Amino acid sequence: MNLKEEKNAIILVHNYQKGDIQEIADFIGDSLELCIKASQIEDSNILVFCGVDFMVETAAILNPDKKILLPDRGAECPMAHMLPAEEIKKAKEKHPDAAVVLYVNTLAEAKAEADILCTSSNAVAVVESLKEETILFGPDENLAWYVSQHVNKKIIPIPEKGYCYVHKMFNIADLHLLREKYPNAEILVHPECDPEVQEFADHVLSTGGMVKHVATSPKDIFIIGTEVDMVTRLRRENPGKSILPALSEAICENMKLHTLQKVKNSLVNEEFVVKVDEEIANKARKGIERMLEVS
Ligand code: 13P
Ligand code: SF4
Repeated sequence: MNLKEEKNAIILVHNYQKGDIQEIADFIGDSLELCIKASQIEDSNILVFCGVDFMVETAAILNPDKKILLPDRGAECPMAHMLPAEEIKKAKEKHPDAAVVLYVNTLAEAKAEADILCTSSNAVAVVESLKEETILFGPDENLAWYVSQHVNKKIIPIPEKGYCYVHKMFNIADLHLLREKYPNAEILVHPECDPEVQEFADHVLSTGGMVKHVATSPKDIFIIGTEVDMVTRLRRENPGKSILPALSEAICENMKLHTLQKVKNSLVNEEFVVKVDEEIANKARKGIERMLEVS
């Protein structure tokens, strides 16, 4: 019996993990897919989550009675730390009629202040599902811009300039060069990229959306504007297609803190346990479950 079976554990892995970790996953996906999976775990006692803090906290909020482990406890998403709960409270005071829609890339204390959560794959549907015409949306300014292009509501970004340092690296000068070199390629970018990058691309998709798109598109060459290990997964699953990174320096160092050895240590020592304060978890769960109803 292997260690995972012995511990009755399941390993969840985000699309940005290194290839060797992707290969040991029981389930690999984008933030929404991982959130849905975490909401359905019944048989396992331990969940090892190779992702960043906000994803693992979400799994802990949805599974208060299970042991949720993060192999490297330093794996934080800097963007999730850009929107403290206090700032949301202030924004609500200023805009009492607005609904608060938060990206899952937020910490539990912030989630507790949201009316509903969203991910990059359901943000438009989530905003459309609300009766309010004004939406406080955070923390990613670029995802807020993306949503504002698809809905007929007033979207107010909170904070004003929340961003992902990885997706900020993409620029249209590089994409122009790639388009000249590969005129038949489809350019796919993530909605955390800057607006002009999104406008230049053929499709703006979540990482899960990219997986589905590449598998079903009749094209056979793709340029991928998101974290480089998305390319690793796409190449493994589409051996007959050419998948190129738009920028090979686009690395999320925070995601890369996990290693195979740390995953093993995590299982052996049952470390590092992620727990969310019960009161905060109870409040945050409402917004997550409301999102899952829309998805
Ligand atoms: P996805 O939900 O598209 O996987 O995005 C998560 C993320 O952190 C992007 O930087
Ligand atoms: Fe956070 Fe950006 Fe890394 Fe995604 S890629 S986890 S948003 S820092």
